[in-house]
Amino acid sequence: MTKSFSSSTPSKVIVEIGMGDGRLLEKLAKCDDNIHSTYIGIELDKQQYENAKRRINFANTILLNGSFEDILPTFPDDFFDLVIAVLPDPDFIDNLRQWKWESFYKVVYSKLKNHGLFQLITELTDELLQPIPDKIFYDWVEYLLTAFQSIGFILLTKEEGAPSDYSTRCIDQFRGDPERIRMITLNFEKKID
Ligand SMILES: C[S@@+](CC[C@H](N)C(=O)[O-])C[C@H]1O[C@@H](n2cnc3c(N)ncnc32)[C@H](O)[C@@H]1O
Repeated sequence: MTKSFSSSTPSKVIVEIGMGDGRLLEKLAKCDDNIHSTYIGIELDKQQYENAKRRINFANTILLNGSFEDILPTFPDDFFDLVIAVLPDPDFIDNLRQWKWESFYKVVYSKLKNHGLFQLITELTDELLQPIPDKIFYDWVEYLLTAFQSIGFILLTKEEGAPSDYSTRCIDQFRGDPERIRMITLNFEKKID
């Protein structure tokens, strides 16, 4: 899947895991003026994948219908410049399921190039859908940082909410209720000296 180019511009490979209807990937691929970038979107749900396919038809974009747990390991190690996960399902972020998802994010780590980035946007809600107090929110962020740093990721930035220029079906919905659905954006780097 690697493209080879004679130009000196380095090629970049960006993958979004669980891309939903692909609206973020569409925007990122459209706005990227590096003609050597390749965008890959992976989505398990057939309907969402079909929605993304209708939306995105660019030469620099590849959409895959299947589980990122099966697909990601098929790429070479040190392959991606950027892995994006926007609002992963609880199976891939919930603290009670860490034993299950940790091994998957170790694969993400191994597939990143040195100095590659992993962007995780996730959300915290209360079971009774009450507003989330600051203490609970910050403790949860600390929990996430510890979990991902123990895999090897280095934290670059953490910011409450989703990036202002990002739009996905879920982000757009969750933005409407910021006290009860508190999002965090964590930007990590793989850094091997
Ligand atoms: C909460 S939704 C978020 C979708 C999208 N990122 C957004 O922000 O609107 C989680 C998405 O991950 C997909 N998903 C869940 N498990 C998956 C897996 N193992 N492989 C690929 N996609 C998966 C779901 O089908 C769903 O579209």
